[in-house]
Amino acid sequence: MSISDLQLIETAKRARERAYARYSNFKVGAALSDENDQIHIGCNVENETYPLGSCAEDGAIAAMVVTGGRRIVTIAIVGGYDELTACTPCGGCRQRIAEFADERTRILMIDESGDWTEHTIDSLLPSSFRLPD
Ligand code: THU
Repeated sequence: MSISDLQLIETAKRARERAYARYSNFKVGAALSDENDQIHIGCNVENETYPLGSCAEDGAIAAMVVTGGRRIVTIAIVGGYDELTACTPCGGCRQRIAEFADERTRILMIDESGDWTEHTIDSLLPSSFRLPD
């Protein structure tokens, strides 16, 4: 059974409810499916030492890697203060996603117009850093 976009979005919303966003109050949740048809989730975890906080995507990717997943098939990201608002992955998370993405990877998010949109990693992070072979 393949994992539907709706399932990932609902899972990301549930992950977001667990966010520890004590300082920004901006709660983010991420849910991704991997090449093994497993779902992994993450939420942002802030810290009193602000730069130590981590992003939702970071947590979901770490959860994928530790269970053996190496490719993001689809990732859904949701964020907002109280209600969901536009939430695109930060620059660092674009690079993190790029590490485990290919041209088929789908990145789902709510854009500035309030609509769900689908992106590729190349559209979000063109010419991303790669070590030479
Ligand atoms: N945040 C994420 O979790 N993912 C992103 O891609 C953007 C920002 C979090 C970090 C911080 O806890 C809060 O959102 C406000 O920046």
